Amino acid sequence: MPQANSAPNDAAISIRGIEKSYGKLGVLRGVNFDVARGSIFALLGSNGAGKTTLVRILATLLRADVGEATVHGYDVLTNAASVREAISLTGQFAAVDELLSGRENLVLVAKLRHCAQPTAVARSLLERFSLSDAADRRVATYSGGMRRRLDIAMSLIGDPPVVFLDEPTTGLDPQARLDVWQAVRELASGGATVLLTTQYLEEAEQLADRIAILHEGRIIANGELEELKRLLPPAKVEYIERQPSLEEIFLAVTSGAARARCTGTVEAEGEKS
Ligand SMILES: Nc1ncnc2c1ncn2[C@@H]1O[C@H](COP(=O)(O)OP(=O)(O)OP(=O)(O)O)[C@@H](O)[C@H]1O
Ligand SMILES: [Mg+2]
Repeated sequence: MPQANSAPNDAAISIRGIEKSYGKLGVLRGVNFDVARGSIFALLGSNGAGKTTLVRILATLLRADVGEATVHGYDVLTNAASVREAISLTGQFAAVDELLSGRENLVLVAKLRHCAQPTAVARSLLERFSLSDAADRRVATYSGGMRRRLDIAMSLIGDPPVVFLDEPTTGLDPQARLDVWQAVRELASGGATVLLTTQYLEEAEQLADRIAILHEGRIIANGELEELKRLLPPAKVEYIERQPSLEEIFLAVTSGAARARCTGTVEAEGEKS
């Protein structure tokens, strides 16, 4: 794996002033944030907020109109090939080959990534993602959760230091979601940096070291869960003190009134421009 040699700072991902429009639709309007190495960073946002657009820019699949981003120390624009070597991307929709078996999918990717022992790599990932029993069945017969697990397993081949997961658990049942969460935790504990997008607030709450909320093209809140919780005073119901849930924080900070109240409490970058 190539080593970073031009990192502007020690962050695994660094994003400065990213803007992107589709025609007249301004989707990203000045996005800034850093993701620390080895951490799990959750990007929250409603449908159409621009999460996938940002992930595609970071994965060099799409060009930003304005701004800079580095991944693993490499500029996504001027050093796209190095970025691609350092990342894996699990897109919002599973990208597995339905006609092949799970094992064949994994072996194929392991060969493409020049692994020395593709069969052994496939076997170990099948075990890790509880797919050994179904390994030799065509993926067309897999459930949605099995496909998703296979898709994530494929993206881990070659141990990429930076992993993008775009809505990794959308459509999964609770058990499959727990399995994916466990895999994400293992990734980070093994030293990888994970940027995941999600609309499940509980997912961010469970997994992320840091959470950012993308709204109307900007990051309107960015902090650790405890910092985000401080955006709202704890509600008091008679004698019981209750902490706000991330869902309440999300709904509050994405409404204009709360945004004004929050300015300066946590990095409220949306207010800068
Ligand atoms: N290729 C494209 N051409 C035109 N508009 C696009 C294109 N891709 C995305 N958009 C628009 O950009 C906006 C952001 O889309 P994006 O897919 O990044 O959102 P998202 O946050 O990932 O949403 P979701 O939660 O539904 O996946 C949406 O309004 C979408 O319709
Ligand atoms: Mg999306």
